Amino acid sequence: MEVEKITVVGAGLMGHGIAQMASQVGGYHVSLLDVDQGFLDRGMKWIKQSLNKFVEKGVVTRERADETLERIHPTLNVEEAYKDTDLVIEAVPEKVEIKRGVFEKADELTSPETIIATNTSSISITLLASFTGKPERVVGMHFFNPPQLMKLVEIVKGKQTSDQTVQTVKTVAEKIGKETVIVKKDSPGFIVNRILIPALNEALYLLWEGVAEPEDVDKAIKLGLNWPMGPFKLLDYIGLDTALSVINVFFEEFKDSKYRPCPLLTQMVRAGLLGRKTGKGIYDWKKK
Ligand code: CAA
Repeated sequence: MEVEKITVVGAGLMGHGIAQMASQVGGYHVSLLDVDQGFLDRGMKWIKQSLNKFVEKGVVTRERADETLERIHPTLNVEEAYKDTDLVIEAVPEKVEIKRGVFEKADELTSPETIIATNTSSISITLLASFTGKPERVVGMHFFNPPQLMKLVEIVKGKQTSDQTVQTVKTVAEKIGKETVIVKKDSPGFIVNRILIPALNEALYLLWEGVAEPEDVDKAIKLGLNWPMGPFKLLDYIGLDTALSVINVFFEEFKDSKYRPCPLLTQMVRAGLLGRKTGKGIYDWKKK
């Protein structure tokens, strides 16, 4: 199946970057759908800022940046967004009820051939597929933050996802300039988050137990393991609320105490200390 038009649902942290790369590198026509004009404006502002950065660095020409913008159509209108689309990439908040609404609407308004992909990092692909009448065309397409710079896309098969659907989204991800891995089974956290999130949770236990200061934990992991940023800086980037919701999914799905969320994580989320997006998490970003 040849993909020409992509609809990205959600113009947030991930959605805007996915839309940008689909246009900038893949050359696709992109509809960027959201429920609030403010979210669309903010997403388009981020895309422009990112493109300006790429122009400054000589990664793309000004002309290419302008063409990238011309191919992206921000809209609040679902009919317009889904018209003649070949691939939907859903990147709305990690709440089953919100995603359910998107999946049902996309299923209703797109052609039977249209593939519906989700950028979820923790919700079951099989569950999301059950909200549509075509589970064989539902698949996980998990990008990493920031989508403009991170090379990986995890392609995740739900229980009924067809091999043809997997092949189509793999081709699209590669055309967008990404490397792919295939996650053969719909398992919580797929590959990356299954390893990353328990590691971040464990870093929080170090802090909770008073074993070391955050700066030293970050320094140790940066210099001892060559991570580009330490676990606490990364946690602040990802958002503590996101990390908590992922570790809670592991705890519930695997019924294993090794995934018990660190009490410090729960406390910080309750206090609204979510990381960079709220100005304060493990670190104070207003000072930095
Ligand atoms: N568009 C364009 N340029 C961007 C950009 C964007 N969206 N974001 C950052 N840049 C630019 C920066 O402005 C910077 O430019 P200058 O050199 O002019 O200052 C340049 O890219 C490099 O950025 P940094 O200086 O921060 O340097 P870096 O070498 O550390 O690269 C990084 C940045 C690639 C993000 C790196 O820090 C990194 O790999 N961090 C880890 C990211 C990570 O682990 N992501 C996964 C999170 S987990 C996830 O996403 C999954 C989930 O489900 C929770």
